[in-house]
Formats: sequence, C-alpha cells, structure tokens
Amino acid sequence: MRSLSNIVLGLGLVSVGKVVPVVAQSEEIGVAAYPFPLGQVTLGEGRWADSQSRTLNYLLQVDVERLLYNFRLNHGLSTQGASTNGGWDAPTFPFRTHAQGHYLTAWSQCWAILRNEECRDRATYFSAELQKCQANNEAAGFNAGYLSGFPESDIQRVEDRTLNNGNVPYYALHKTLAGLLDVWRYTGDEVARDTLLEFCAWVDWRTGRLSYDQMQAMLRTEFGGMNEVLADVYHQTGDERWLEVAQRFDDAFIFDPLANDQDRLNGLHANTQIPKWIGSARTYKASGTTRYLDIARNAWQFTVNQHSYSIGSNSQAEHFRPPNQISGFLTNDTGESCNTYNMLKLTRELWLVDPRDTTYFDFYERAMLNHMIGIQHPSDEHGHITYFTPLNPGGHRGIGPAWGGGTWSTDYNSFWCCQATSLETFTKLADSIFFYDESTLYVNQFTASRLDWADREVVVTQDTAFPASNNSTLTIEGSGSFDLAVRIPAWTSDATITVNGEPADAEITPGEYAIVTRDWADGDVVEIVLPFSIYTIAANDDDALVTVAYGPVVLAGDYGDETLSSSPAIDLESITQQEGSLEFEAVVDGQARRLFPFYDAHDINYNVYWRLNG
Ligand SMILES: *[C@@H]1O[C@H](CO)[C@@H](O)[C@H](O)[C@H]1NC(C)=O
Ligand SMILES: *[C@@H]1O[C@H](CO)[C@@H](O)[C@H](O)[C@H]1NC(C)=O
Ligand SMILES: *[C@@H]1O[C@H](CO)[C@@H](O)[C@H](O)[C@H]1NC(C)=O
Repeated sequence: MRSLSNIVLGLGLVSVGKVVPVVAQSEEIGVAAYPFPLGQVTLGEGRWADSQSRTLNYLLQVDVERLLYNFRLNHGLSTQGASTNGGWDAPTFPFRTHAQGHYLTAWSQCWAILRNEECRDRATYFSAELQKCQANNEAAGFNAGYLSGFPESDIQRVEDRTLNNGNVPYYALHKTLAGLLDVWRYTGDEVARDTLLEFCAWVDWRTGRLSYDQMQAMLRTEFGGMNEVLADVYHQTGDERWLEVAQRFDDAFIFDPLANDQDRLNGLHANTQIPKWIGSARTYKASGTTRYLDIARNAWQFTVNQHSYSIGSNSQAEHFRPPNQISGFLTNDTGESCNTYNMLKLTRELWLVDPRDTTYFDFYERAMLNHMIGIQHPSDEHGHITYFTPLNPGGHRGIGPAWGGGTWSTDYNSFWCCQATSLETFTKLADSIFFYDESTLYVNQFTASRLDWADREVVVTQDTAFPASNNSTLTIEGSGSFDLAVRIPAWTSDATITVNGEPADAEITPGEYAIVTRDWADGDVVEIVLPFSIYTIAANDDDALVTVAYGPVVLAGDYGDETLSSSPAIDLESITQQEGSLEFEAVVDGQARRLFPFYDAHDINYNVYWRLNG
C-alpha cells in the first residue's frame, strides 16, 4: 500500500534544490500504518525537547574538520590544520570513522525536524568532502567507490578471515552508508546520493566476487546493518540491484534458528545481532518474503520477553545470557545503550506491520523513558551519555569498564558506538509519537508535541507533562472525519477519554487502542487520563526480586554515596507518595528510603531491583 504522501507527490525524484526530502521509490510491502514525514511532528516544551537541544548544541559545535581527519588521511588528501580525535576515532583505532555516519544522520534529522540550516550545511559539506575522498581512490590504491578511515586491505582480511578479532570494518561502513542515505533523503543533496550509490556499487562488486560460503564465513564478523541499509537503498531508489546485495548479508547462522522460532541468543554479542533483525524487517518490506518477518518478530519476542531488564534494556557485558536469566546478571555493565536504540528501531518497524498491537509501543515507552532518556546527563550542555546503564545494587550511571563506559562521553575523546547512536536518538524523539493510515490517526506516545498533518490540513497539539502528570490533552485545528486511535497502556486501569468534556464513545481497555470515530471540528479538545498505580515487575527467574514502577515510570531508590553489596529488601505495603509528584518513600531494610524516577538517577548510587520483604 502506497503512503498518502507518495500518492500526493507521485513518482519521479523529487529533489528541488536542497530543501525537499526525496520520496522513496518502492512501495513497502505488508505495512498497514505510516510514520509522518520528519518535520510534520515537532516536540513541545519539556524533558524531551531539553534532551534534543543539548544534543543539538554538540552537533552545532563539534569540529567538522576533526571528524574528516581519518577519512582524508586514509584517502590521501591533506589533513592540514585539523587535530586528531581520541577514543574510538583515534587515527590508530581499528574501526575508526564508525561514528561519522551517525553525525550525518543526526544533522539531517535536525534539518528535517527543526529546519536547522547550519545542520543541513554541515551534512552537505561533510558529504561533499567525503566525495572528494572517494574521488581520490585510484591514487590511494583503493577500488572505485570505497570510502572509509581505514584501508581497504582490512576488507580483504575480513574476507580472508585473517583480520584481528574485534576489528569490524563492515560495521563502520554500514554507518557511513546510512548517514549518506539520510543526507540524501532528508536534504535532497545529490552529492550525498552519488557518493552513496558509488559506495553501494563497491559493496556489490566486493561481495559479488565471493561464494555463498565465503560470504557466510565473513558474516561471522560484526557487520552492523549492512542488510538494513542496502534494503533501504532499494526502497529509496526502487533499483532491485540493491535488494540483491542486501540479501547477500542474510546471516544464516543467526536467521535459521530465529525462522524456526528457536531462542539461541545465549552467548551472542547482542548489538551485533539487532541491526540484522532490523535489516530482516526491511527486507521483508522489500521482498514480501514472510520468513524475514518471522525472523524479525521472533527476535523481538525473545529479546523483549526473555532477555530484557525491567527498564527495557538488554545484554550484560554486551552479551545475551540464557533466556529468562536476570537475577544472576544484575551488574555494572548491563544495558548497552546501542542495543535499545536498535530495539526501538525494530519495534517501530514491526508495529507498522501490526498497528493494532499495543505491546510494541508499550515496550517502546518503557525503554525510551526508563533507559534512553536517562542515558543523557541532564546537566551536560552537550548531551553526553553513558554507555552502560548499571543495574547492580547500588549502581551508578557512568560507571562501567573503562574501555566502554567508565564515565560520560566527551566531545573528542570517546566516540563510542553508544555516543554515536545517541546523537540519532536525541534528534528523532519526535518521530514515533503520531502515525497514520487512510482512516486513522494513531497516538502512540504521550509527550508534548505538535502534528502538522499536511495531507488533511489538520494540526493536532498534544499538551502534557507526562509522565509527571497522568493526562494528556489533544487539541484539533482544522476539521475532517477520521478515527483517533489512542494507545491505552497495559499498566493503566480506569483510563478515560473525553471529547469537549463529554465521555468519548469508545471502548477503553488497557493493552488495546481506544478508537474515537468522529467528524472532527476545529477546536475539538480530547482529554486522555491514564491513571498510574504502583506495581512490580519481577525478574523472569525470581518472583521475589522485583522492580517497582508507577505507571510508565520505573522507580529507583536513592542511595546517595552509600554502597550496596546485595539487593535490599523492600516493604511494598509501606510505599507512600508525596501528593501529586513522582516522589515516594518506602521502608527498605527497616529504614525509610526515597524512591523516585530512575530516569532522574544521576550522580548518585541507586537501586532498581529489590528483594520482597515477606
Ligand atoms: C564492575 O563490577 C566488576 C565485577 O564486580 C568489578 O570488578 C569492577 O570493579 C566494577 N567496576 C566499577 C567501575 O565499579
Ligand atoms: C491534567 O489534569 C490536571 C488536573 O485535573 C489539569 O489541571 C491539567 O490541566 C491537565 N493537563 C493536561 C495537559 O491535560
Ligand atoms: C492524576 O494525577 C493527579 C495529579 O497528580 C492526581 O491528583 C489524580 O488523582 C490522578 N488521577 C487519577 C485518575 O489517577
């Protein structure tokens, strides 16, 4: 089914100057709902907008020449005057330049959503400089189209299986490809398009020479979302060549058990796998082959239901552990943030296929609020983040193994995977609030925002302090007949929806969408109330080890600078709320203890999993 905006704009490349986004050329198969084009939804004032502006500050101030250094050096161009970076972008770091593609995406998103011209100019300047690097390949001794901060011989070695363990060249290349694609599709920049397609042609040539077995052997080395980005290039161009190249990256070792509904995730490096599952969903939407959808759905089910912590995070020391094993893995290196960034992408992809299933956005809300929002330090003007989110008793954000976390990310000395993905997360917070189909407007997240539904000439403003309040108000400008589908989270009960003060004619059931059908008139006001209550989320393997939550908010205990060596015992009956706030007190180990939202637990020791007292 073709999206409405495609019908309106028709076929043919829409690429006027550098303003108009480029419309995808292929119809996505199997989808039943659509995201709004970036820019039609913006954030209102609140926590999310503050997070976005901190990351935007950094994106506007980071020295672009430094980010170009390794590319220029590698491709034989002058690096004169530019300083080098540290961390994972140091000139000697094996998969240097893995981060830059995320900057390209983040700048492009800031253009698409915020119309920030400086971000657009950074994205297009960077793409033009990358094209110069690519154009010098012959002199640099590389094959046409290659583009990276490390030599092409690393690709030869990953094909030959002689590359050092831990060096992951295609993982880095995926991100540059994805960044160029986003510059092209969000700004219309044809230099980014040409550079991207030359680079894709190199991938085709490079992988087309390998046998199936050689390719599968190479896929044992982490390769990010190569299948995802190539399927996306197919969607964007309509050229089936790229779908065929995408499918060369189908990893049989990972996909076969998932297609057969088998959870064999134990022991796997988690973030190596999740991008492949997103790629599987994208390949389903390109090919219509349902096996790809089964793989992506089963992977989502296993990860969310059997491998996730109560805050929606997964992985311990970056790895999946045995299914349903949580209590033995509450450590200071749980919840790599890239994994959740990727799980949110996968969740969105799957929901678009099954838009009447609320479990997807129930998970999205939990992981976004309780994991992602908290990774950014709220007092850091550049929006720096933590790699892991520790869940050990007495945990502390920013603590972790020195190579990965250790502290908060920095402007020029970290460039970890999680820092790079966070640039995307905090510049696309507006992308998954509202969705639509021919007859329906979906409200999937409750956060201050504004939808400019251009095709219908309707504006919807969502006013809320959620989750600091339990209600949200939608004000409609314009008019028209459509169903309003409001996600009623599974955690609520006695939710209400009123239209202009009168109870809405809609069935309201937790864990389902409430559908309000109406001829909407200018000025209509919808008020949604989702009562919160205290409940527990037990560890899968131990009913007496629980997280305490209030509505969508996971609560943490404030331990200041006290240390803990085991999970403290909480008396659930003792929990009292400070009227009208998210502040609570509970008796823990016989003493009064402050409980408050985990997303606010910075610069202190905290506790998230409790022993039940009695
Ligand atoms: C994290 O936990 C491990 C294992 O208990 C410990 O050896 C290490 O010192 C901890 N790291 C930090 C930074 O607390
Ligand atoms: C939420 O409810 C409170 C109390 O009834 C009310 O004062 C406030 O205006 C409501 N806010 C929104 C955004 O609906
Ligand atoms: C919603 O929140 C307000 C303010 O926090 C509170 O007074 C009210 O009782 C809550 N409403 C419901 C239905 O839980």
